[in-house]
Amino acid sequence: MGSSTKSATKTFGILTSGGDCPGLNAAIRGVCRAAHDKYNMTVIGIANGYRGLIDGDARLFKPEDFSGILTRGGTILGTSREKPFKARDKETDAEVGGDKVEVIKENYRRLNLDCLVVLGGNGTNTTGYLLAKEGLNVVGLPKTIDNDIVGTDMTFGFHSAVTIATEAIDRLHSTAHSHNRVMVIELMGHKAGWLSLYAGVAGGGDVILLPEIPYDIDAIGRHLLKRARDGKSFSIVVVAEGAVSKEEAAMDKKERKKYREKTATPSIGYRVAREIEEETGMETRVTVLGYLQRGGIPSPWDRVLATTFGTAAADLLAKGEYGKMVSLKGEEVSAVDLSEPAGRVKSVPVDHHMIATARSVGTCIGNE
Ligand code: F6P
Repeated sequence: MGSSTKSATKTFGILTSGGDCPGLNAAIRGVCRAAHDKYNMTVIGIANGYRGLIDGDARLFKPEDFSGILTRGGTILGTSREKPFKARDKETDAEVGGDKVEVIKENYRRLNLDCLVVLGGNGTNTTGYLLAKEGLNVVGLPKTIDNDIVGTDMTFGFHSAVTIATEAIDRLHSTAHSHNRVMVIELMGHKAGWLSLYAGVAGGGDVILLPEIPYDIDAIGRHLLKRARDGKSFSIVVVAEGAVSKEEAAMDKKERKKYREKTATPSIGYRVAREIEEETGMETRVTVLGYLQRGGIPSPWDRVLATTFGTAAADLLAKGEYGKMVSLKGEEVSAVDLSEPAGRVKSVPVDHHMIATARSVGTCIGNE
């Protein structure tokens, strides 16, 4: 038990929201142990993200609740994709249906919270920002396997997912080689391609397709046929679930939906595989890695990052520095205003050094 230093925050609530990922429990542990042991704060654990705050599903968190969880996957608090402000009309911002925001503010008061700590992705930190604008004290931590949160160089969960995806790509190499096949692996990342880019480079993907760069199947076909002419009897194609062809990129939402129904393929990985077979005549197979990227124990790096973010959040609570999200800038752990990530997605810049690196080792990024 460390000595308890003065703190502006006496009692705080903590919740995890959005897609789960390895490292969430490490972050919970980091916040709670520092807040409790160093600052003598009282911790209220809130179940299932913002849903628990609406339902009042919260309880006193004791030291035994947040010890022994560093290496556990998932989140001991549970999570949901509840978006309290979604109930508001987009144009008029008027209340639509029951006003969940007022209920949250009521429960925040009833639970006697001085602050709300939210661990989540874009949606979670955006909701945290909107609640801060409603007068609540909020501190956010950047969590997601997608690494697409503006304001931080990295989110916890990302490194573990890159590790899982890279191991999968390594495994695909041996079966692709044995069968002289093209293996397509579809990874998570609807809006941003960070996970596919980094796992593609780590796994030696021959083609990497990102949502940020609409692909040209002719260019992919040329690349794969050249590999075959150069004696490479197999190829690995890494596809982010949000990748689109240049034809689809030119469509509006409605046209794209119709086009996809016509192709009768469950997801982009299958569409790309079919196009590759049509384009090159090469035997192609598909693996959709799905939720395996979000499961299991955190990598050592994610344990360190999540613990660091957690203890940094506890320090913000002690200083009474609310309305912020902890962040990593280079080696520096700091904090940005919650307005910075709110409503935004950190996409892969088309001139990002990792794209240049991939190209330098002969990887096709789908558009040349
Ligand atoms: O936000 C992280 C993420 O894993 C995305 O990469 C993925 O598209 C999405 O969550 C899946 O959402 P859900 O868990 O609600 O199916």
